[in-house]
Amino acid sequence: MAELSTPDRAAVLAALDRVRDPKSGRGLAAAGLVQALVVGPDRAGFMIEVAAADAALYAPVRDEAEAVLRKVSGAGKVQVVLTAAAGGTGASAERPPDPGIVRVRRGARLSPQAQAQMSPAQPTAALKPANVRHVVAVASAKGGVGKSTVALNLAVAMAMLGRRVGLLDADVYGPSIPRMSGLDAEPELNAERKLVPLEAWGLKIMSIGFLVDEGAPMIWRGPIASSALNQMLNDVAWASEAAPMDVLVIDMPPGTGDVQLTLAQRVALSGAVVVSTPQEVALIDVRRGVAMFEKTHVPILGVVENMAYFPDPSTGEPIPIFGRGGAKTTAEALGAPFLGEIPIEVALRQACDDGRPFVADGGDSAASKAFLSIAERVLDALDHTSLKPPPRIVFED
Ligand SMILES: Nc1ncnc2c1ncn2[C@@H]1O[C@H](COP(=O)(O)OP(=O)(O)OP(=O)(O)O)[C@@H](O)[C@H]1O
Ligand SMILES: [Mg+2]
Repeated sequence: MAELSTPDRAAVLAALDRVRDPKSGRGLAAAGLVQALVVGPDRAGFMIEVAAADAALYAPVRDEAEAVLRKVSGAGKVQVVLTAAAGGTGASAERPPDPGIVRVRRGARLSPQAQAQMSPAQPTAALKPANVRHVVAVASAKGGVGKSTVALNLAVAMAMLGRRVGLLDADVYGPSIPRMSGLDAEPELNAERKLVPLEAWGLKIMSIGFLVDEGAPMIWRGPIASSALNQMLNDVAWASEAAPMDVLVIDMPPGTGDVQLTLAQRVALSGAVVVSTPQEVALIDVRRGVAMFEKTHVPILGVVENMAYFPDPSTGEPIPIFGRGGAKTTAEALGAPFLGEIPIEVALRQACDDGRPFVADGGDSAASKAFLSIAERVLDALDHTSLKPPPRIVFED
């Protein structure tokens, strides 16, 4: 049997350069249109990012590139994804497009109120996949506080409560949902050329980690990270009229930098869940996390205190390793609901490593109960949306 061979990258790029960029007249690679090229045994793919207005112009280019890629790579699975970024300027741009600039009609005057709401990074159009009711971000200002653990278990808990739930791993720099959910298959494209999310644990799941090989260089940066998110929201078959989705949970990358801010602004979020640990330093981060969403006018659904305490192995009594209740006090002081505390459990860490959502095991441990009750509270908040809608930019006549 012939062994699967990895196609030569240089040969692939040279072949793609024979496909013309209709705008610049240059080859695709020379024009900078070959982004995030992945070439591996039996698979090859890349992304073309163009301005939204150019999407139709580039559709045949995508098809041609796919045909060329199939021929030169000899790979069985070939995928070229065309991503149309609102506000993007495509290949001819000297600088990467700033994904967050508001385009205001020429001559339009903004009301003073709208002007006050406009920050330089206000979104052009908030993204929300069709037939998805709520999009909820799970975020933290600091890394390693258990955001992905909470996002996965919260999503599974909501599914266990009877909702149709999706999980989007938007941590383009260090996706951990593939490992935590035990999935590593490659999503297929459906007839509409949308990626079909993987299904497990009662969830539909998509992660950049399914598309990029582990160990492959993470070249997703700034605008590319942002367009990868676009793609994962718009080019994934999350839901349909026949099979709508109640909640799409987004596991955000850690931090409150530009990337996170952009994500928070571009996606039509119903609300955000901020995860923290009880240490003093982490609590400062709760403030930063809450402030980020306030800046972007996203309602805070609440704060979760993770690793809140360590249950005494013999008595089960809480041992507050980092002090206790700090996140609750901080949440209250900030006027954000407190959603609950999750203890440190060795079995929970083990489950993450084994690729099983802990809550799915159905045990009646404190952590499982906490995830279910947090899920109930989040659903309750979403169902009774006294939540402020995100602000709209208002044009005066
Ligand atoms: N309550 C808990 N008890 C025990 N282990 C936990 C708990 N919460 C998280 N962990 C473990 O801590 C580690 C970090 O968790 P996780 O990856 O969810 O954090 P994160 O905030 O998403 O990190 P990153 O910022 O890198 O995305 C993981 O190994 C996870 O298994
Ligand atoms: Mg994470």
